[in-house]
Amino acid sequence: MRSTFAMLDDVVYRLKAAAALLHISENTLRNHLRDSGMEIQRANKKNPASPAVRLFTIADVFALARWRRDQELVKPLSSEPIVIAVDLIKGGVGKSTTAGELGIQLSLLGYRVLMIDLDVQSNLTQLMGYESDLTIDEAVQNDLDEDAIVTGTFATICGQYMESKSGRGTRMADVSAVIKYPFSKNGPALIPSDTFLGDLEQAFTYAKGNRELVFRNLFKDAAAGNVPGLAISDYDFVIFDCPPSISFSSTNAIAAADLVIAPIRMDSFAVKGLSRLVSEINGLSERSPEVRPQLLILPTHYSTNITRVSRMQQQLQAYKTNLSPTVISTSELFPKTQENYLPLTLQMPTAAPVSEYRLFTEFLLSVVTRNQKKTRTTKAEAA
Ligand SMILES: Nc1ncnc2c1ncn2[C@@H]1O[C@H](COP(=O)(O)OP(=O)(O)O)[C@@H](O)[C@H]1O
Ligand SMILES: [Mg+2]
Repeated sequence: MRSTFAMLDDVVYRLKAAAALLHISENTLRNHLRDSGMEIQRANKKNPASPAVRLFTIADVFALARWRRDQELVKPLSSEPIVIAVDLIKGGVGKSTTAGELGIQLSLLGYRVLMIDLDVQSNLTQLMGYESDLTIDEAVQNDLDEDAIVTGTFATICGQYMESKSGRGTRMADVSAVIKYPFSKNGPALIPSDTFLGDLEQAFTYAKGNRELVFRNLFKDAAAGNVPGLAISDYDFVIFDCPPSISFSSTNAIAAADLVIAPIRMDSFAVKGLSRLVSEINGLSERSPEVRPQLLILPTHYSTNITRVSRMQQQLQAYKTNLSPTVISTSELFPKTQENYLPLTLQMPTAAPVSEYRLFTEFLLSVVTRNQKKTRTTKAEAA
């Protein structure tokens, strides 16, 4: 029985691909295997005629990423998670793809990642291996165990949280059952979405206090240990995949975010969507000065031979300081990832679009590190 729709048993990597996934050299990986004592299966175990090359499973790779972290081979970040909202009002621009690939890449670097699907379309949930509306009977028919079933969403958690704040004296129940681990506990965590996520918008209208800051306050309370089952401080990154519509959820995600990533389709007319996002961020900062997320624009569906691309590039010059120096090219490989219930990074570690997401991940980390240095300096100056 499987615990997600992905055919994880069929996915194995040779040394070169495993090293690429972990962003390390093959030699370093060999040394890690020696030092960690981890046993990796050999190809000739199943078929004695094949060469005895090592075959890494997805769980092996995430176990190695975690081992690297435990050995302090991963650059430490701040103790509170860095919250990222992937947002743009338009659909089909690459939000869910970016949230998923980035989440996987950061996990492979040894960071602890929580992805939160805020879209009832559940594209991110599917990319991670789940059919959101699957019932227990359907699971059994598909040879899936109960881990494959979505038993709650961020609406479950926020609904209970808002209720507990309503002054009616209700206590929050443990929410840990909502959180999924599609690639073993060493891999990223996911708060999935299903049809009931729609209830969240409704719940906001009854919320006490500032309705824009519910997620932000929830994380503060979780960090103080007041949200049973959500150990938010264990994570280095929280990544929100926002819906393509104006909603309290997206506004809340932006208000909770340190970074807002706006994927921009280079073969489209998306600059208006971007200016709307900028004014939403500015409006939030005016109303709540502690909200000051940094905007990063990621060009997607990039291609050198479309005339529209060069016009878009010119228009984006107005946002030069927010523009990622790396882009994501158009690739036929992405649309298949959802059918296979597996992010491209894990499907084809050495494919060209994967290395583009890898470069973007490195850029994002350089921004995060720079910001943390700045914060430290400002704190030191203030002291
Ligand atoms: N760089 C790309 N090139 C080609 N297709 C892409 C690319 N990025 C995403 N896609 C595909 O485009 C569709 C929409 O992407 P998605 O990430 O779901 O967008 P959004 O979340 O903004 O609606 C999906 O089928 C996805 O696989
Ligand atoms: Mg989406």
